[in-house]
Amino acid sequence: MAPVAFVGRVAISCCLIFVALWFFVAEESSPARYKFQGEEHQSHRACSNSALAKDDFSWDSISPTEELIWTDCYSDNQCARLKVPLDYAHPDGGSAAIAMIRIHSGVPHNSSSYRGPILLNPGGPGGSGVDLVARAGAMISTIVGPAFDIVGFDPRGIGRSTPRVSFFTTRAEREIAFVSDPQFGSMNASTDALSRAWARGILQGQLAGERDDGSLRFINTDHTARDMLKIVQAHGHEKLQYWGFSYGSVLGATFASMFPENVGRLVIDGVVDSENYFATEWSNNLLDTEKAWMSFVDGCVAAGPHGCAFFAPTAAEISSNVDKVYTSLRERPIPVRTDTSFGVVDYTMVRATIFRTLYSPYAQFPRLAQALADLSQGNGTALFKMFETPVFECACDPSRFQFESLREAGSAILCNDGKRISPEYKQVLAHYQNSKTVSDWADVWEFIRMPCLAWPEFPKTHFQGPFIANTSFPLLLVGNTADPVTPLWAAKKMSQGFAGSVVLTQDSPGHCSVSAVSLCTQKYIQRYFADGTLPEPGTVCPVDAPIFPTSHSAADADVHEQSTFAVSAADRELFEAVRELAKTSNFGFPMGI
Ligand SMILES: *[C@@H]1O[C@H](CO)[C@@H](O)[C@H](O)[C@H]1NC(C)=O
Ligand SMILES: *[C@@H]1O[C@H](CO)[C@@H](O)[C@H](O)[C@H]1NC(C)=O
Ligand SMILES: *[C@@H]1O[C@H](CO)[C@@H](O)[C@H](O)[C@H]1NC(C)=O
Ligand SMILES: *[C@@H]1O[C@H](CO)[C@@H](O)[C@H](O)[C@H]1NC(C)=O
Repeated sequence: MAPVAFVGRVAISCCLIFVALWFFVAEESSPARYKFQGEEHQSHRACSNSALAKDDFSWDSISPTEELIWTDCYSDNQCARLKVPLDYAHPDGGSAAIAMIRIHSGVPHNSSSYRGPILLNPGGPGGSGVDLVARAGAMISTIVGPAFDIVGFDPRGIGRSTPRVSFFTTRAEREIAFVSDPQFGSMNASTDALSRAWARGILQGQLAGERDDGSLRFINTDHTARDMLKIVQAHGHEKLQYWGFSYGSVLGATFASMFPENVGRLVIDGVVDSENYFATEWSNNLLDTEKAWMSFVDGCVAAGPHGCAFFAPTAAEISSNVDKVYTSLRERPIPVRTDTSFGVVDYTMVRATIFRTLYSPYAQFPRLAQALADLSQGNGTALFKMFETPVFECACDPSRFQFESLREAGSAILCNDGKRISPEYKQVLAHYQNSKTVSDWADVWEFIRMPCLAWPEFPKTHFQGPFIANTSFPLLLVGNTADPVTPLWAAKKMSQGFAGSVVLTQDSPGHCSVSAVSLCTQKYIQRYFADGTLPEPGTVCPVDAPIFPTSHSAADADVHEQSTFAVSAADRELFEAVRELAKTSNFGFPMGI
């Protein structure tokens, strides 16, 4: 994404990433109780208010240990740092420390109904499981039930786990690098957009190599799968219980293939074609992106002028009106000043913003419709504010940021995982030409493998497939009918390798099941964890809430309110949790998986 507004970290939600943009939408409402969320928003206050800093839990206060030792953190949660080998081929060498957060089960651990931990991964790659659980763990706990601990961990290389990937020597250097020459954006923004992205990618790979302290080669999915087994064993268990989103499906499939005997319950949700991922192809993520976009267009027509601010009587007219916005912005980008920042709304920002909303249509489409309507009138403020990030400020206390999630961690994982790709520009051009034949959205996706072009030449000895196994318990795969970056097709493909696994289909747009409200889906997931019941093959779950408000007075009402009355009292708590998750979480890092 090109725009300044997209650069910079925000809080997190769930599934994926990508190099600069990743991190989840923070939303203005993100709770301030977690130091690592919205840290930037708080930085000014923190500098002038030492009381706040004192209240904050510090990961530094926990020494990494091989046994699990939980320390109270962030109000109701517990945190730990697990010591694991940096290199599993040489376990007596250096170590890594995996940061974890837990929401304790609702039942005592010595009760017969206690069922152990469920590990989560939010995707990215590069996403923080600690952030995910801090932000959404309570809702996930409501879905799976009180018998389980909910455990989030930052995969090695990321956030509060150490060693941490960093290509830059200071925060300011990173910020300047991304702001002066943003990593992503539309390759269709200008005639040199692709070649500039190529050059930046080469530079990133070179920086990664030069600034590697020797640990970079151990930051990969194979090692993280081994870390997960260590986490499970540290809990006194042998079998993994896991719910992984987006890239978390690559991690889950890798674990299942490497340790088929250690699968207890494994849900992969928003499923990536792991073979394509390990080939560094990134060529089949966008098979359903247009379908996700058409859910906006058709949904807007169906919602009517009161339900959708960008309404036009036909889909063709809406598409044509969006094209007019593109054309107009190419000719006249719009300068925007808000209370907290400023920037330029241009073609590439609108492309990237629309693409990002496809991840969480239930949370974002009504806002997008308003923003596009405003843009048609020459007002870019609403669009700019959709993913606005605060202006960067240098930290007065750099130690406050020693565990922040860095945008380059995702590149490190996917470039280390994937097979080497040619740095030749003509090969990059050929790849892009091919991607364009797959999807009209290739322009905002092509950046993702660029950092791998001049990646350091580490030996590729890690697990890279095949993704086949007779697992000790069958996997549950979940796919949406119109997921913008993890097409349903990939869930069906991956399922073939895992004996007895079942694909549950959710009939909705959005990335991962939790981007929409479906009691049906979440009840299947609940039952799978509770007693191992798998849905019948071919099961398709409907959603329980409309994307756009359906009543006339509802233009600014809660988008999901209409269907609440239909929910039985018994389901109300579950419904509220799922609804909250769909509203607050942007599963999938913007511009990642
Ligand atoms: C479980 O642990 C609690 C507190 O440690 C104790 O009071 C209780 O008696 C234990 N229950 C059983 C069934 O062991
Ligand atoms: C542009 O839209 C914003 C709302 O997003 C509004 O507050 C502002 O007044 C509008 N600007 C103009 C010039 O109409
Ligand atoms: C690129 O931009 C041109 C001109 O606006 C447009 O005709 C074309 O459809 C765009 N291509 C893609 C892949 O977005
Ligand atoms: C799974 O089990 C079947 C039947 O025993 C066997 O034919 C197959 O080779 C096994 N697959 C793997 C990957 O071990």
